[in-house]
Amino acid sequence: MAGNRTFSMIKPDAVRDGHSGSILKMIEAAGFRIVSIKLVHLTSEKAGEFYSVHTGKPFYDSLKSIMSESPIVALILEKENAVEDFRKFIGSTNPANAAEGTVRKLFAKSLERNAVHGSDSDENAKIEGDFFFSNLEKF
Ligand code: CMP
Repeated sequence: MAGNRTFSMIKPDAVRDGHSGSILKMIEAAGFRIVSIKLVHLTSEKAGEFYSVHTGKPFYDSLKSIMSESPIVALILEKENAVEDFRKFIGSTNPANAAEGTVRKLFAKSLERNAVHGSDSDENAKIEGDFFFSNLEKF
């Protein structure tokens, strides 16, 4: 059965450009409930840890650098079928392929600066949520 929570980040560019409020408004209007929220400035090391699955890929160093430029907004979101619905809602990883009306179509600047992250499985949603929030904060 699909889980009801996902993890998301509003990425540094989008926060810096003042789009956090618009993106959060879209998230809530789409039926996701904010369970946890935090503004965090990642170090390059922590960004690398979060994206460790991409270690060794050509874009890994650049990703670490971009994700540690300035603060991100970390979010745990709740909705039925959260992971799949959220990925549909934000659009393709590459904004060039993102559907009209999706967050990435509206706010992403490029594949690397694609405005938001969304977990790709229930298992990763739990791991990624735990990366930013202690159990205490979730209750
Ligand atoms: P995100 O969904 O946060 O997951 C990994 C991130 O790496 C992705 O969004 C992009 O911002 C970034 N990235 C950069 N280049 C690539 C690429 N060629 N393929 C996938 N992701 C990339």
